[in-house]
Amino acid sequence: MKTYTVMLPAAGSGRRMGAGFNKLFLEMAGKPILIHTLDVFEQDPCCTGMILSVKEEEKRQIEEMLDRFGITKVVALVEGGAERQQSVAACIHAHRSGEIVLVHDAARPFIKREVIHELVDVAHVHGAAIAGVQVKDTMKYASVGIVESTADRSKLWAIQTPQAFRYDLLKEASEKAEAEGFLGTDESMIVERLGHPVRVVESTYDNVKMTTKEDLLFGEVLLKQRRQEDFS
Ligand code: C5P
Repeated sequence: MKTYTVMLPAAGSGRRMGAGFNKLFLEMAGKPILIHTLDVFEQDPCCTGMILSVKEEEKRQIEEMLDRFGITKVVALVEGGAERQQSVAACIHAHRSGEIVLVHDAARPFIKREVIHELVDVAHVHGAAIAGVQVKDTMKYASVGIVESTADRSKLWAIQTPQAFRYDLLKEASEKAEAEGFLGTDESMIVERLGHPVRVVESTYDNVKMTTKEDLLFGEVLLKQRRQEDFS
């Protein structure tokens, strides 16, 4: 079994959720979204440590949550930045050793362990691997409400997290992006800029990022279904 450290940016505000506070504190089945996500890694024997980036003013509340819900693998709580990429960079700075690191949105509690392990295996061999699913809809480019063209769907993937990298590669990519003022929407983009090939590992459609109120409803249903599966 190959081990890994996971970095979890948790310093967002989740404005699209409209809760008025960090969406990761919203509860599903009596537990905050953040704890559902951390639990996946707490339970995975291959995960050797978690590094979380959080807002300074939420640090105390998160520490209390970790205690209350028995999350023991958090090795560092670092201060997040204004952009997600800066929050991940803070985790990278805090990391010291270990070959493979995963970056995973704290707002994605439904990631499957098999996908995590596949990502770690592929990153071990190839340096970089990201989770994704093939798009189901027809995709078009349009501007000002007019279609310009239709994309070749067979080559399109909707990319999620986790994204797994050899630590040195991610560190180099992060430092280059920072030095050049480049802001990507995921870690893969900053590694792609180095010219390093990034492999896609097939994930599941239910690995959704909790973004809007509808996602919360979906999450409750999914949890119920998974509990039923566990008892059957
Ligand atoms: O806002 P969004 O859902 O895309 O954020 C994805 C993840 O990145 C969330 O877990 C959020 O807490 C985190 N984030 C962060 N720092 C930011 C913005 C988002 O850690 N400045």
